[in-house]
Amino acid sequence: MTEKFSKIALRMKSNVIRELLKVTSKPGMISFGGGVPDPDTFPRFEMAEISKEILENEYKLTLQYGSTEGDPILREEYISLLKRESGIEGIDVDNLLVTVGSQSALDLISKILLDEDSIYFVSKPVYLGAASAFSLRSDRHVYMSLREDGADIDEVEQNLQEIENRGELNKVKFIYTISNFHNPAGVTMSLEKRKRLVEIANKYDVLIVEDDPYGDLRYEGKPIDPIFKIGGQERVLLLKTFSKILSPGLRLGIVVGNKTIVKKMVTAKQATDLCTPSLTQRIAARYLQRYDLLSQIEPTIALYREKKDLMLAELERSFGSMEGFHWTKPEGGLFIWFTLPEGFDTAEMLERGKAANILFVPGEAFSLDNTCNNSMRLSFCLPPREDIIEGVRRLKKIVVEYGKEKNLL
Ligand SMILES: Cc1ncc(COP(=O)(O)O)c(C=O)c1O
Repeated sequence: MTEKFSKIALRMKSNVIRELLKVTSKPGMISFGGGVPDPDTFPRFEMAEISKEILENEYKLTLQYGSTEGDPILREEYISLLKRESGIEGIDVDNLLVTVGSQSALDLISKILLDEDSIYFVSKPVYLGAASAFSLRSDRHVYMSLREDGADIDEVEQNLQEIENRGELNKVKFIYTISNFHNPAGVTMSLEKRKRLVEIANKYDVLIVEDDPYGDLRYEGKPIDPIFKIGGQERVLLLKTFSKILSPGLRLGIVVGNKTIVKKMVTAKQATDLCTPSLTQRIAARYLQRYDLLSQIEPTIALYREKKDLMLAELERSFGSMEGFHWTKPEGGLFIWFTLPEGFDTAEMLERGKAANILFVPGEAFSLDNTCNNSMRLSFCLPPREDIIEGVRRLKKIVVEYGKEKNLL
């Protein structure tokens, strides 16, 4: 049967994190694996009330097909949210497309922009979902190394210059970046780097895809202007989502960008799913009208801040004095990137983790070439406090046992 599969289907790989989710429910398991929000943060009673109202009173719309572009009320509300949240102005509903989560937006971007010989820039480590969407169409990625203040922009420029020198600049389609609290690395791009990135993208005429699911989940420090605000809609395509601030089950993402690109994505979406569910779009729209989302998420921010601080403290307690062990200290988002000395293979260690009831995502899941083997992604948002403490204890035990066995410690 496999001989019937398309070339694209043959390139598809099962997502390691989705596989991990299957063992998460094993009794006694502590998971630092999936980046799934804490369900107690979902405003379920408010959403239940809205759902009842709109199902009874707006059933002609909410139970019907909707436009591919998305619910006009949701798009209007989102425009005012973007203005309040980051001072983004000068956009109207035609700059916005509502997708089935940002994941679907990544897939649409891949469809409308990438050919087999197209070149695109991604960070190393890279967000797995983006890597899967882009690499299906083209394997010509260029890596951007990540530093504490975001991607190495000098390296980006050097690579663009080299590509121009060999006459392939027209093949470069976009630079994909997660500006705030990177998944998996936890780092945030500084304002200075955002400005430089825009300058370079202008110079070489390359689109920037700014994926920002976590920007509102800031626990420390001051918000930084989105790259979209600096570069404008002609240069930057901004991806937002309700997954981490309302609920991922709604499956709602928002694309903000140049109208020609948005229109092409609309056409591509027609072939994918016709429209994003009308019901969940209207739930989110009415929620935005009724509540101030940004103040509603304050308790979530407080909860995640505490969990993040706890995990950082536990890592420090367990690994602080061990040479060659280091980890990022995110100011927001859901992830810490934990790097072990060379020689530690976190994919191999995961098997021991499963047996010892502790899950994490091996670093190799975030590379397109099976590298990052001595790192792992730790997510602190879901486990309760006592599990964070116990989980890091189990992790330490595995690390020490593995390290001794392989003569790495
Ligand atoms: C960087 C990034 N982009 C996109 C997504 C996809 O989010 P969703 O499809 O739930 O909107 C995620 C989810 O974890 C993510 O971390």
